[in-house]
Amino acid sequence: MYNFSSTFELASINDKARLGLLSDLHFGNSSLVKAELQRDLERMDQAECEIAINGDVFDLVLPGDKRFDLAGLDRTLIQKGVKPIDAAIELAYETLKPYAHRIKFIGIGNHESHVNKHHHIDVTKILLYRLNQLPNVEIGYGGWCGYWHVRLKRHNTIVSWVQYRHHGAGGAAPVTKGMIDFNRMLVWQGDIDGLWIGHKHNKFVDLATKMNYNRQHRKVSTDQVTCIMTGSYLSTYGTDEGADPSYAMGWNLSPQQMGGVIVELRHDAEQQKYQRTLKVGCRVIL
Ligand SMILES: [Fe+2]
Repeated sequence: MYNFSSTFELASINDKARLGLLSDLHFGNSSLVKAELQRDLERMDQAECEIAINGDVFDLVLPGDKRFDLAGLDRTLIQKGVKPIDAAIELAYETLKPYAHRIKFIGIGNHESHVNKHHHIDVTKILLYRLNQLPNVEIGYGGWCGYWHVRLKRHNTIVSWVQYRHHGAGGAAPVTKGMIDFNRMLVWQGDIDGLWIGHKHNKFVDLATKMNYNRQHRKVSTDQVTCIMTGSYLSTYGTDEGADPSYAMGWNLSPQQMGGVIVELRHDAEQQKYQRTLKVGCRVIL
């Protein structure tokens, strides 16, 4: 588990901190809609987000793998005349380079784990090594999962927001889209404000609620947990320019939602009788 913490300085109650959540980029897959990924990176850059990537940065289904399909390999990986792993790392590096100073961490998914297991190479660490040579860049290795402790500081007041993330696991869940995964995690997760998974290539947000009894003040509160699933950048039916249909076409799946989200956090003041409480307010921009 790899945990991170970030502190944002807010100038006023109207000021906001923004997190850019991405997953499932799948560099090296011929279904990757590069323009869509570029659009997401650009909007996160313009919103001055701290960006995190939750695994499957690489596709890397390689020759020798029973899932390998030459048609599924990005043509640029072959045209470069180098080995596909090197070419995919180069593609990821060049795409992420202009935004590297905004990236907090990059995690792994089942695709990187598969390459690590069968080819004994950690492609994420190589990408990080290269990106971290750039000026003002210090990207952490995120592994499979961990907590992100986000602190919002305004003058002398600090309120925090904690998100747990995992790349995600299991099958495609074409009907439930992965809602069951959130419900499973909510059973064993403790005091959190957010959950984030990728993997299933669906994109949605759901608000779960947890009821808490405060032993010290003998009061009950209902707290929200913002459950976020980020999508991939793969074109399901190849209807996006320059992209081939993905594996999901053969599975008769509905076209899947694309891309990441921006989480906007703010200080939220509440006046109850004579007591003023401060919480973190959260808004998700799809
Ligand atoms: Fe994926």
